[in-house]
Amino acid sequence: MALAGLLNFSWCSAETALPRERLSLDVGWKFYLGNPWGEVISLAKAGENRGPAEADFSDGDWRTVNLPHDWAVELPFDPQADFNHGFKPVGPGFATNDIAWYRRAFELAPADAGKRIWLEFDGVFRNCDVFVNGWFAGHHDSGYDGFHYDVTDLVNGTGKNVVAVKVDASQFEGWFYEGAGIYRHVWLEKTSPLAIAPDGVFVYSQFKNDRPQGVAEIKVEASLLNRQTNPATATVRCEVFSPEGKPVAQFDKTEKIAGAVSPTMRLGGKVAAPVLWSPESPKLYQLVTTVVSEGRIVDRKETEFGIRTVAFDPNEGFLLNGKHYEIQGTCNHQDAAGVGVALPDALEYFRVAKLKEMGCNAYRTSHNAPNTELLEACDRLGMLVLDENRLFGSDPANLERLKNQIVRDRNHPSVFAWSLGNEEWNAQGTAVGASVTRTMQDVAHSLDTTRLCTLAVNSGSYGDFGIFSALDVKGFNYHFESMDAYHAAFPASKILGTEQASSIGTRGIYTNDAARGYISAYDDHNPRWGQSAEEWWSYFAPRRWASGGFDWTGFDYRGEPTPYQWPCISSHFGILDTCGFPKDNFWYYQSWWTTNVVLHLLPHWNWPGREGQDIDVRALSNCEEVELFLNGQSLGRQTMKRESELKWKVKYAPGVLSAKGFDDGKLVAQTQVETTGDPAVIHGASDRSTISADGKDVSVITVSVGDAQNRTVPLATNLIHFELTGRGKIIGVGNGDPTCHEPDIFVAKPDIEVKPENRGWRFKILPDVKNAHLAELQPDFEDGSWDAVDTLGNAESLPKPEQAIYRSKLSVSADDLKSEAVQLKIGRMDDRGWVYVNGKLAGESRDWSSSPSFEIKPLLHAGENSIAVAVINSDGPGGLGDNILLRLLKPVATPQWQRSVFNGLAQVIVQSETEAGEIKLTATGDGLTPAVVSIHTHE
Ligand code: GAL
Repeated sequence: MALAGLLNFSWCSAETALPRERLSLDVGWKFYLGNPWGEVISLAKAGENRGPAEADFSDGDWRTVNLPHDWAVELPFDPQADFNHGFKPVGPGFATNDIAWYRRAFELAPADAGKRIWLEFDGVFRNCDVFVNGWFAGHHDSGYDGFHYDVTDLVNGTGKNVVAVKVDASQFEGWFYEGAGIYRHVWLEKTSPLAIAPDGVFVYSQFKNDRPQGVAEIKVEASLLNRQTNPATATVRCEVFSPEGKPVAQFDKTEKIAGAVSPTMRLGGKVAAPVLWSPESPKLYQLVTTVVSEGRIVDRKETEFGIRTVAFDPNEGFLLNGKHYEIQGTCNHQDAAGVGVALPDALEYFRVAKLKEMGCNAYRTSHNAPNTELLEACDRLGMLVLDENRLFGSDPANLERLKNQIVRDRNHPSVFAWSLGNEEWNAQGTAVGASVTRTMQDVAHSLDTTRLCTLAVNSGSYGDFGIFSALDVKGFNYHFESMDAYHAAFPASKILGTEQASSIGTRGIYTNDAARGYISAYDDHNPRWGQSAEEWWSYFAPRRWASGGFDWTGFDYRGEPTPYQWPCISSHFGILDTCGFPKDNFWYYQSWWTTNVVLHLLPHWNWPGREGQDIDVRALSNCEEVELFLNGQSLGRQTMKRESELKWKVKYAPGVLSAKGFDDGKLVAQTQVETTGDPAVIHGASDRSTISADGKDVSVITVSVGDAQNRTVPLATNLIHFELTGRGKIIGVGNGDPTCHEPDIFVAKPDIEVKPENRGWRFKILPDVKNAHLAELQPDFEDGSWDAVDTLGNAESLPKPEQAIYRSKLSVSADDLKSEAVQLKIGRMDDRGWVYVNGKLAGESRDWSSSPSFEIKPLLHAGENSIAVAVINSDGPGGLGDNILLRLLKPVATPQWQRSVFNGLAQVIVQSETEAGEIKLTATGDGLTPAVVSIHTHE
């Protein structure tokens, strides 16, 4: 909802230029995998951090990446790497891939003077140090919670600023693929000194006697941050807009606030006859919070929220808006084909929409705090969320993380409960477990009185002890065989099936294949602790008190290959694969989780060589009766039991296997699978053919291989090549095959020509070289009488603390200058130095131990150029040396993207650029008619 359309209230529009600005810093980071600089933090002197932490460090030859970014997904698979993390060579034992650096410049303008400047990171995996202009700004450990720094003190008020982030992914936090890098968004936020605090608006609603009828009381807690030392009077004004954008409530409060404090103002208003939020009708209200001080608007923030009630009842289970609501949930990790953990926002919407199509109405963010965009997708599309904390623990750091997560997420109507942890087997049955639960739960309750807490317990032994003795809502992971007895023994307990199933199957595969790591999709093979979809769901469906539960998992994810390991690199627990292509179980859930008429047959009908043999045929359906036919011959009609499926043994003959579904004896559905011919043609279909030209939006393209009659060939494995033209780029490819080792990302290889520049250097010791006007630095200075110096050797021409200027000539051709960048790389400038090209300063190095590069193309002309380097040696032997190189960076060639289809399907994720236009994706393969997909991007 555009703010402009909302502001009908007179004094809201008193001032147009609002002080708060929130700018995305996602585009244009420089990235380097490795850390040859060692420890860069100076504990001796402030602002003297070394290497890439320095503002003027030369990162010209680093790769350019946009966020979100996951470097682990770019690495090849390695059988020596951790299987739980998807065999990617990062983490313990892979030191060369563990640490990476990101750098980015941002500008501030004179108009920003006096504002507070914030850097906000939504998630970095993990253990990162953030520097601003060479100054240390902060350290953050966990990969799953966001953090922000007020960097006002560190920035240059106007002009260029540099943020550098060192990321260390050498340690895991979970037992699943976790990625590596700045895999969520980064923001630059500008506020006035008196402003709403970060995550400072909490809005919730209450009804009389907790019954969602009549008037809703809207409660707002607005936390302000007064960074001024003087006291001020602040008015917080709240305006509430209905889902249609109509103003429905308005209230304000004025308080005198002291200097340098962070007070919270509590306000309230009423909305008569509100429209309630639910997954079926995800209607969102908007709160506009405006802060006025001394007659000026100092801040304004929009917050989306929903009006609804959530509760648990020992007999009625989960209650949404006062009524029993069956949780039809899936657990999911933040991980998708093509992109790893770095999901573009639109992909979150794509995935939530897929789950909804199946009838899933709840998402457990296993096992960590989600990204905000997932919650927004769930709010807007209608999906309840069990918002899970990463680590169970009541130490101060962990409680702080829990607190931040709750404060960040508590406005989202989709979030119906907090999960304090998962399968904490050292605590589940102990008194310590109970105490830690109580402490964490108290923190949650103190920040949010509207939701209860649960924790996913898999002990198999449940009673009034350990974590369960303290927990609001008892979370059962598996072990539903214990639930009846528990419910009977503890009839006042509130219960939820936090994790169930763990059923395994590979899309389009109907026999187990240990060599390739595939598991049949009939859902007949569960791990020791798991159950089939039918087993768990037929238990929960008739028991309202159990609240429903969460299947492990909605989507396949990298890591945890089960039951086979290498070469299998992904899990098969998903109801959908990593691309979001449905496996057969999708229709089981759709049958019992939606009111659509569903009729699906499995397997496919291409079984050459098995003519006359029995094939196990199943119908997944919610029709009362289903009749099966082979090539028009009836194979019998069967009656469906609720929460079940139907089975036939069919002697294979190629042709058409079809089914008819009946309700009350009337034909309500038909479906068929056909024996196809050989691969002949490629098809391409985008989920959205028009996307925003914002450099972030994506279109998800399904590529399928069909026969001459355009029927998807269920066994096709063809390699498909992709070429993209126009205003976009491919950011990832996938096919859902849990054993495929083809790259998901093709990284363009830089083409760099390197020329040694060690001849003809001369030097002269001078008293003071730190003066750009020195004649010795000018291009036409005659240095013939100076001593020669060997710059290939060690930088030791200055044996004691001294200063000198070093000079040489550099010849470049017009062709050289066609390079994207021309860099002068100096092996060592010990201790400090300034590089001048044709008399103009190219850059400075303050770090004797690094090998700085200077971008000099703008200062060069074709022919002979003058290079002068002023060096101050302040300690030990120093000078200029260790090899001087000229590096010509050629334009980076677009990589050749390709992917095999798996059982007929592959996926390509195409991202827009910031200029609008058409995108054309062409898919070609040997002997196949190509496909062209067009996408339009708009401003
Ligand atoms: C559960 C666990 C999940 C996943 C799953 C695999 O016990 O909570 O994270 O490991 O098992 O079946």
